[in-house]
Amino acid sequence: MTPSKKNVSSEQNQRLLRAAKKSMKRAYAPYSQFRVGAALLTSTGEVFAGCNVENASYGLTNCAERTAIFAAIAQSGPELNIRAIVVVNDQGVPCSPCGACRQVIYEFGPEATVFFQSSNGWKESRITELLPEGFRLK
Ligand code: THU
Repeated sequence: MTPSKKNVSSEQNQRLLRAAKKSMKRAYAPYSQFRVGAALLTSTGEVFAGCNVENASYGLTNCAERTAIFAAIAQSGPELNIRAIVVVNDQGVPCSPCGACRQVIYEFGPEATVFFQSSNGWKESRITELLPEGFRLK
């Protein structure tokens, strides 16, 4: 992955990539066989990771991105501010966060940088590019 142009150093980026891959290996994906890992960097420098967790009732599946965010809050509290989030998958195919995850990333990181695999290789986007007009209550 090319080093970030924006708010993450290449060392931080590598750290996120490693954490995302480690979590990806723990994915519960018996239905899709598509394992995804995500790792986020907070404004205080902490890293939290997550994987997708599927369910026989498919719609209850939790994506890796939301697992990472919910783990961060469970472990570190609700003052979460996401600086960056990296998404990886075990098939090396394009995989940008789904619409639901974009809204959840935006809630805790309105300026977050998102790194994901696009059809043109690794891509870095601001969450506001991926989710224009994100919804906020406050
Ligand atoms: N998935 C993620 O975890 N994150 C994404 O960004 C895209 C999709 C998961 C959900 C489901 O377990 C599997 O990938 C196939 O859709």
